Amino acid sequence: MRVVIHATAEAAGLAAADLIARKIQQRPRAVLGLATGSTPLAVYRELARRHREEGLDFSQVTTFNLDEYVGLPGTHPQSYRYFMEEHLFRHLNVRPERTHVPDGRALDFDRHCESYERQISQAGGIDLQLLGIGTDGHIAFNEPGSSLGSRTRVKTLAGETIRDNARFFGGEDQVPRMAVTMGVGTILDSRQCLLLALGEHKARAIRDTVEGPVTAQVTASALQLHRDVVVILDEAAASLLARREYYDQVERVRQELELAQADRAVR
Ligand code: PGA
Repeated sequence: MRVVIHATAEAAGLAAADLIARKIQQRPRAVLGLATGSTPLAVYRELARRHREEGLDFSQVTTFNLDEYVGLPGTHPQSYRYFMEEHLFRHLNVRPERTHVPDGRALDFDRHCESYERQISQAGGIDLQLLGIGTDGHIAFNEPGSSLGSRTRVKTLAGETIRDNARFFGGEDQVPRMAVTMGVGTILDSRQCLLLALGEHKARAIRDTVEGPVTAQVTASALQLHRDVVVILDEAAASLLARREYYDQVERVRQELELAQADRAVR
């Protein structure tokens, strides 16, 4: 795992956006895995700005979102389809038929989940998966105890997640109890994962994810098994990491190597 710590949440968000933008520049037909929640908001603002001001082209990009609440239509202001349209898609030139969010109102969820997995494979798999993390250590809606081999399916939300998300719904009793979510196994199949965490309330989950054992009790810890993960944090989210100095040292060495490479390329 590469752990990159930025002084502020804003800088961390910009760094995450930069990684995504570079992926699209390298590979205009990139397949992106996208996330919702407060964490990616600054990332999406920056991607929209780059599209508007710098012409970052999303016309060939395909997207797959991690999850959706069961029962909410895409027109519901708290649905994740609505969130994505509002905060990202309508600001880009992405083709609507290339944006995928699980359907919270599918008539047959087993079939819908199978078809979601199939669509990801048919698109060639996810090149870069953006992830947030829950205070209980979940990625997507893979709550503690989820199988680390799980695929897209319907999952019951944990009490902690319902409490965390009550602020968007105006009360705990308004939060849906279930969600359709990519599984941990689905996420691990992505070629690269980018986990972004901001704020002190994420510090414990980040410590457990990065430095704890791999356990289904903290589903994000399964990312330790992935070959290409970048964890981007602000100072607050990084505050409980024991090996902080080492992560900074690795980044310094990387930067020196990149500078040396750039220098060689110029000569
Ligand atoms: P947040 O949610 O970005 O709103 O903190 C993250 C998550 O629950 O995965």
